[in-house]
Amino acid sequence: MIGLKDQYADKFLIGAAVSKRSLEACEDIILKEFNSLTCENAMKFGVIHPQEDRYDFEQADAVADFARQHHLKMRGHTLVWHNQTSEWLFKDREGKPVTSECVYERLDAHMQAVMSRYTDVIAAWDVVNEAIDDKPEDFYRNSIWYNICGEAFIEKAFFMANQHAPNAALFYNDYNALVPGKRDKIIRMIRNLQEKDVPIHGVGLQGHLNIYTPDMDTVRASIEAYASLGLQIQITELDISLFQFDDRSVLDQPSAVLLEMQSDYYRRLFEVFREYQREISSVTLWGVTDHYSWLNHFPVKNRKNWPLLFDEQGRPKMCYTSIHP
Ligand code: GLA
Repeated sequence: MIGLKDQYADKFLIGAAVSKRSLEACEDIILKEFNSLTCENAMKFGVIHPQEDRYDFEQADAVADFARQHHLKMRGHTLVWHNQTSEWLFKDREGKPVTSECVYERLDAHMQAVMSRYTDVIAAWDVVNEAIDDKPEDFYRNSIWYNICGEAFIEKAFFMANQHAPNAALFYNDYNALVPGKRDKIIRMIRNLQEKDVPIHGVGLQGHLNIYTPDMDTVRASIEAYASLGLQIQITELDISLFQFDDRSVLDQPSAVLLEMQSDYYRRLFEVFREYQREISSVTLWGVTDHYSWLNHFPVKNRKNWPLLFDEQGRPKMCYTSIHP
């Protein structure tokens, strides 16, 4: 069977999230199947810029060098987020909260250092991650960014990013982006940015889904709604959990029935993605094999989940075959 990247070559990029470790362990799979990489953690603020005067590029450089060597594209993930972000960014020497001007100055220095280092290899950046709230009664997430800067941090971040990487496509990225209530808020926020001529070029739908939801009519309706913004759509963090989010049960092995349901879900989902190949420019899986999935630790610690296309030994699963049209 030809690799996914070749199978989908005339449709969209096929990516995977990697770490330095999974890159070494899964090199053959990556080179055969994928033409885009995202650092699962290595470019997050807390990892790459742990102290104001210290950057740690080691892991990110390893992935970027691999991408350069093998002519793979990269997605940069992520610049502005409320999680895995260094605390020093928001505090002065005495530990008191700093002003929005100070946060912006520090963010600007961060973007300058990180974005310029990878301009040759990163084609798309997640500039702002997860700024919209899940609760129907709240619009923006009540994050430290929001508390210090108000909603202005979102547009500021895009303008700054555009200065530091004028050729990169700039994305807003979020989870539950296919849930109609949250989807409508994301769309409202992006329309508002577009009215102010903010340089935003794409919307990233993370795609942490499960074998039960959402149904394909909802996926279709959401893609059409985002497409109406005139932006490119990328699926940025796809995995299909075997468990509903509230299900905390544990399995030693995945049952044949669950793996069939997963395969069927992947098949139907990629059918929809192919239908919208003009709107979708890339689909990234959040990991290479089931061994490396974050879902083995979340939301239940040490519970295996098996959400990806390759099993723990790196063998293609039924769901892999199902997305080869
Ligand atoms: C979110 C983030 C990702 C990652 C996942 C879990 O979706 O955007 O960077 O942390 O959670 O791995």
